[in-house]
Parts: sequence; C-alpha cells; structure tokens
Amino acid sequence: LSMHLPWIDAINALKRERGAVIMAHSYQSPEIFHGVADITGDSLALAQAAAGCESDLIVLCGVHFMAESAKILAPHKTVLIPDLEAGCSLASSITAEDVRTLRAQHPGVPVVSYVNTSAAVKAESDACCTSANAVQVVEAMGSERVIFLPDRYLGSHVATQTDVQLILWHGQCEVHEKFTAQEARHARERFDARLVAHPECPPEVLAEADFVGSTSAMSRWLEREQPERVALITECSMADNLRARFPATQFIKPCNLCPHMQRITLPNIHAALRDMKHVVDVPADIAARARRALERMLAVGR
Ligand code: 13P
Ligand code: SF4
Repeated sequence: LSMHLPWIDAINALKRERGAVIMAHSYQSPEIFHGVADITGDSLALAQAAAGCESDLIVLCGVHFMAESAKILAPHKTVLIPDLEAGCSLASSITAEDVRTLRAQHPGVPVVSYVNTSAAVKAESDACCTSANAVQVVEAMGSERVIFLPDRYLGSHVATQTDVQLILWHGQCEVHEKFTAQEARHARERFDARLVAHPECPPEVLAEADFVGSTSAMSRWLEREQPERVALITECSMADNLRARFPATQFIKPCNLCPHMQRITLPNIHAALRDMKHVVDVPADIAARARRALERMLAVGR
C-alpha cells in the first residue's frame, strides 16, 4: 500500500473536509478497499448502507448500477461515481422495453431483477435481489412462477434452490462466464485448494465448488472454515482484499478482472471529491418506481 500513501492521505483529508462517506465494493483494488473506504461489502451491503447513510455525500466506488441504487435509496443525498463509464455486462444485457415484453408474454407473473440492472429496468420490476438474497426474494413473491433477470447463470443456480419455477433471461457476467470447470478442478487437484465460487459462474463451475455465495458470503465462509488453501472463483481483487485478513490461508488465483470495476482509481476518487463529480441522478418517476423494488428487497434482508 505504501506507494499509494500520498493519494490515500490526500483522499482521506478531502473526505473529512467534505464530510463524505466512501463506499467500496469487494472488487475494488486493495488500495481503495483498505486505504480509503469507510464501508465495504457486497452489493446488498452497499445498498443497505446507502439506505441508512448519515452523511450527505456518498462516493460510490463500484459500477454504475451500484451508484444508481445508492441514489435511489438516498434520494436527498449527493452520490458521486469517480468514472461514469463503469458499466456492467449484465446491466447492459436488458432494457426496460425487454422487461415489458417479458411481462406481456407471461401475464401476471412477477418480475424479480438482480440489482445488476439499470434504474429503468428496476422500475419495471416487482422486486430486486442480489446474489446474497435471490432465493429469499423469489420465494417472497408468493407465486409459483417468477420472471428472473438478467443473469441466466445466477437464475439457474437459484432454480436449484427453490420450487418456484423461474423464467430466465440470457444475460451473463463477462468476468464470471470465463471461468471453466477444468480451471476449478486444476486448482483442487494440483493445489489441494477448497473452491469458493460466485453464482454468476457457469453451472459446471458451480458444480465443482465447495461453497457458492455472494462476495460477502465468501468472506464469512473463510472466517468459518479457515482453509489452508482456497481458490476464489470470482473477480481477483476479492482475493487481494482478503489476503491481509487471512494470513494463514494461501489464495490460489484463477484470475479474471472486471474492466468496469477497475476503472475506479485513487486519482479519479480524488478528482471526484475535489470537483464534486460525477453526480449520479435518476429521473424522479423512474426513481420512485425503482425504489419500491429495491425497498422490497431490503425488507427481505439477507
Ligand atoms: P455481489 O452482490 O456478490 O457483491 O456481486 C456483485 C457483482 O457485480 C458480482 O459480479
Ligand atoms: Fe458486472 Fe460482472 Fe463486473 Fe460484476 S464482475 S460488475 S457482474 S461485469
């Protein structure tokens, strides 16, 4: 971290001056995650933190849909994202129009959308979920069938955990779709590693895993199990961030980076606080409808 200290000190000074809270997703690089963030976690933890945030200024270090969710849940606060181009292949796989078409094809079937979607898609949904509570949210809809979008791999994983019949969309995470079962087996056979995978991975990868869960659930699993060696089959900043907390564990890295998450850097966080940019806004009518879906998710909890 030491080479980053001048930036870290400058950001922390500006943060105090502005009374800002910096929230960082598990996939942010260690100098952000450990150096400047006040709140860290999975996308559910960040949404919960935004909903209960005391500060008037939030800097969201993560991708755009996370900043949008924070703004929707904290409408009177200023939410900044250091790079507006930090997107997500899942969020861009589906539009509000697609959701309206799905509803017309399946009249009366409720729509649950993963938070990895635009505000406009959330506004067309009955409830949102994250990978941490997808099964609970789907079951809370009280319906035999649910339209679940946009991640077909998360959807097919959820379908193995519930009797609710899911109608899926064809979105995929460009990072997790790249992992292979062969890579997972290699980590286990060559390094005798336990395997922990994110549910956005393809089913044949999940079938190899000892544990499947959200990024925060992975950290809690490590706390419980304290494995000698582990392969985290997810974005590789996750292992970089956890290594410091689990010195006795060796992290075997099948490594894929999310290009969108990696757009957030110490220099652009500093510029965000200095110039109060880039302000995230959601049109009021969309925000009001999207808020209902997000609040339904928060009511279900973890
Ligand atoms: P989590 O909800 O597990 O933090 O995952 C978000 C994400 O973008 C995974 O790729
Ligand atoms: Fe989206 Fe995948 Fe990046 Fe997560 S890792 S933000 S799901 S592209």
